Amino acid sequence: MYEVRLDHPADFDGWREAARRALALNVPPEELSFTVGEGPAGLFAEPLPDAPADAPGFSVPRSFPDLAVKLVCHADPERFAFAYRLLWRLQREKGLLEIAADPDIARAHEMEKAVRRDSHKMKAFLRFREVGTEEGRPVYIAWFEPFHHVVELTAPFFMRRFPGMIWTILTPQRSVHWDGAEMTFAPGADPSQKPAEDAVEALWLTYYRSIFNPARLKVKAMQAEMPKKYWHNLPEAVLIEPLIRGAEEASRRMIETAPTLPSLRHERAMERGEMARTAKVPAFNGFNKPPEDLDEAREQARHCKACPLWEPATQTVFGMGPADAPVIFVGEQPGDQEDLAGEPFIGPAGKVFDAALAAAGIDRAQAYVTNAVKHFKFEPRGKRRIHAKPNMGEIKVCRWWLEQERELIRPRLIVALGATAAASVLGHSVTIRDTRSRLIDLPDGATKLLVTVHPAYILRLPDPEAQRRETLAFEEDMGRVKAEVPEIALG
Ligand code: URA
Repeated sequence: MYEVRLDHPADFDGWREAARRALALNVPPEELSFTVGEGPAGLFAEPLPDAPADAPGFSVPRSFPDLAVKLVCHADPERFAFAYRLLWRLQREKGLLEIAADPDIARAHEMEKAVRRDSHKMKAFLRFREVGTEEGRPVYIAWFEPFHHVVELTAPFFMRRFPGMIWTILTPQRSVHWDGAEMTFAPGADPSQKPAEDAVEALWLTYYRSIFNPARLKVKAMQAEMPKKYWHNLPEAVLIEPLIRGAEEASRRMIETAPTLPSLRHERAMERGEMARTAKVPAFNGFNKPPEDLDEAREQARHCKACPLWEPATQTVFGMGPADAPVIFVGEQPGDQEDLAGEPFIGPAGKVFDAALAAAGIDRAQAYVTNAVKHFKFEPRGKRRIHAKPNMGEIKVCRWWLEQERELIRPRLIVALGATAAASVLGHSVTIRDTRSRLIDLPDGATKLLVTVHPAYILRLPDPEAQRRETLAFEEDMGRVKAEVPEIALG
């Protein structure tokens, strides 16, 4: 029996090195165990010897390294041994990863999903508190209690999100520090090191109040998404109950008060643009084959690097809704809140969209909602991320995903919210003025297109009267949508 000692609970590099050695030595999975840190050695365990210099190389399916990174982050004490067993089997069973019914593969996908979810929760619910200054720069600390070992996996997100800040994240198993230039990992921390109340808390509460979306309030879903476990570390938890109580009134007020948004320049530039002058689309957007269903499409899109927008964004925001929806609504690109949550149209523009659907008596849950571009494009400005217009190349490259969504869902109607969406659906630019509110037959002979404004356009209008007029016109367009696909009416 051989034993491998790993440096920390999610030591992927240590696991990979040992797994390569063990494969080269032909060590079967039942002969290999993994221990984290300084724990006692197994009674009969010996350290794994070096691999012979002439050991043959080996290969793994392209998706395995990514999967293995997630597996070693799982809280399962057997995770390292399990990941090695998979690797061992992959050398002997071709196509194993595609066999969803295999118990190891099913378990691996479950583990991967749990880790991804935990990492997402860390991104969404971790709160930094200002604790002092270092050479004149504010220093922030956050305490978080993940279920799995997701600190290494998730820390790069915070580095990209807050590159100019000095911050530390403490968790019971692991901590990470960013000094503005370098990231350092260290063992976990004691809850007594948890930062206390601070000056930014009041600001954060104000911010939370302003992003709370009463029109989309679903108490059960909210509690499922934000389990009580996280509440004690969330300053805004004290607001949740009063906000729920005041949701109805706030919902009415919300439609009347518009947040500030970027300029109209974008819509106009879009109308001047041309799809033809754009970048080449890589075959299958860099994947081996077109997806067979929406889940596969979503999974592939998660790894899409066909244009540079993937890198600064938090995640791909794929479309959401039933696979047999009779209508697809297409927006432009996710905004700041969509990027963080991974869902389309949940921010300020989403509120306008929801309100118009509600006014027209449409049930959003019956529709599929997506965007022409699936990554948030932005320019950092201090701690804020300001929406930036996707260019024609980005729209054209990302159009491949919209085509997959269309092909898999085959809706009767597509609704383009704004000029970017219309250009993406049609493959060439059009003006809203020339196309709005009409049912246009698409070349496939089976789908119709309805073009309307983007809800953010309404928010940007400075004149309240114009805003009211445009809101009504937008709601009328939603009424046309309902007339075309009456099965999406609220029940
Ligand atoms: N604007 C969009 O076009 N899409 C979103 O998902 C959010 C804002």
